[in-house]
Amino acid sequence: MGVLENKARARTFYKYLSKVYDQINPFIWDERMRDEAIDMLGLESDDRVLDVGCGTGFATEGLLEHVDTIYGLDQSPHQLSKAFQKFGKHGRVHYHMGDAERLPFQDDSFDHVWSSGSIEYWPNPVDALEECRRITKPGGKVLIVGPDYPNSTVFQKMADAIMLFYDEEEADRMFREAGFDAFEHHIQQSRPGSPRAITTIAEVPE
Ligand SMILES: C[S@@+](CC[C@H](N)C(=O)[O-])C[C@H]1O[C@@H](n2cnc3c(N)ncnc32)[C@H](O)[C@@H]1O
Repeated sequence: MGVLENKARARTFYKYLSKVYDQINPFIWDERMRDEAIDMLGLESDDRVLDVGCGTGFATEGLLEHVDTIYGLDQSPHQLSKAFQKFGKHGRVHYHMGDAERLPFQDDSFDHVWSSGSIEYWPNPVDALEECRRITKPGGKVLIVGPDYPNSTVFQKMADAIMLFYDEEEADRMFREAGFDAFEHHIQQSRPGSPRAITTIAEVPE
């Protein structure tokens, strides 16, 4: 397990990274990739959507172009405070400080659940995916963006030491174990040579 697949360490990491997150983020996860992934959801303006690991609100901002209001959850108070600065504390975004592995919502609460760039920090990703499935209405979509497993052995060793990087086979296993049977993966990349994202869109069984 990578050093950042630990909730306390990830929280400390984001205490510092939150200061520069919005400057660094676009090099690996940019607006084009985000918007391409959002389009996979086919959102309606009155859909109830949760952004798990919303951070400073980069994806939240894109989602707000499609829905009237959104729910954002993150375990880092420092990341959330950056999001408050962008969207206000009591505006179109309803914030929750919490853990992806124990989502504070009732079953079938959301039309769709989104999470970008957060799964790699979850110590028990299958538990969190089960939570995403539990709180999404049957027929709704769960969309998860994570880091694709690198091809080179050197980068694989570095990646494994830091956090969860996974390929399509591993994604198949995690989503199946979490109770999904219909899903597809899309590989996304900002530009040739930059790190790839693996974006999975899964349908919640009826
Ligand atoms: C790389 S940022 C992604 C932010 C945003 N979703 C985006 O697309 O830019 C990862 C976020 O996941 C959050 N996170 C990590 N582990 C978490 C957990 N167990 N529960 C909730 N949030 C978590 C971090 O605090 C951080 O804000």
